[in-house]
Amino acid sequence: MSVLVLENIAFGWNGDRRVLSDLSFALEAGESVGLIGPNGAGKTTLFLLCAGIVKPSAGRIELLGAAPGDPSLRGKVGLVFQNAGEQLFCTTVAEDVAFGPRNLGLPAEEVRARVAEALALVCLAGVESRAPHHMSGGEERKAALAAALAMRPELLLLDEPTSDLDSRSRRELLDVVRHLPGGKVIASHDFEFLHELCDRVAVLSDGRIRGEGTPAAVFGDEDLLARCGLELSRGMRALLGLGRA
Ligand SMILES: Nc1ncnc2c1ncn2[C@@H]1O[C@H](COP(=O)(O)OP(=O)(O)OP(=O)(O)O)[C@@H](O)[C@H]1O
Ligand SMILES: [Mg+2]
Repeated sequence: MSVLVLENIAFGWNGDRRVLSDLSFALEAGESVGLIGPNGAGKTTLFLLCAGIVKPSAGRIELLGAAPGDPSLRGKVGLVFQNAGEQLFCTTVAEDVAFGPRNLGLPAEEVRARVAEALALVCLAGVESRAPHHMSGGEERKAALAAALAMRPELLLLDEPTSDLDSRSRRELLDVVRHLPGGKVIASHDFEFLHELCDRVAVLSDGRIRGEGTPAAVFGDEDLLARCGLELSRGMRALLGLGRA
């Protein structure tokens, strides 16, 4: 069963400059898909469309059988934006993480338990009373992720989740995300992270998905990557056992 469907999507900011054209993509239940593409390809725009923050000029989007923004999706779709800090708006971290579960009408005890669980998952326990806007970039990212996880979403959309994270935090994130149930789409320039985590990788370039397959197949296809304006780092080439460029 597809938990996310995008069919023949077209979108241009301010109605003119085309970012996405005739884009189709589907995510199956329980699947983890990495979304790669050069800067400005439209990965974040795609997430904004899924969140219902902007509307496509053509095509159909369905999340868990509903249209973006549908009230039935409340708490079922977790989104962590590239600028994660802007998602935090409460006076303390605990309040921010509690916001979603509380809005779902869960009892106070359950909200408290979910806050503690989510902060522990992202290794942020102990910062409950800190002001989100006084945290570091990596801490903000973890807090925004905790806020999404506290809802126990069925579908998780993560935009550049490893940016700002140190190596240990990045590994901890990998372990957490890997063990989460539900479908996941992860937009990232961190190919090693996607290679380790994802069942499938999709390449977005020139407005559409230009190729998809297992991480080994996509990252091993240097012609596809080059056509899409992407290239592998030296570390990634070594990981894949490819010769020097
Ligand atoms: N709010 C906006 N108003 C106008 N144009 C925008 C807006 N947000 C993004 N764009 C443009 O849309 C295009 C796609 O941007 P988007 O942020 O979706 O790319 P991306 O693939 O997420 O890039 P990155 O890898 O840098 O995060 C870019 O050309 C960008 O300049
Ligand atoms: Mg982006």
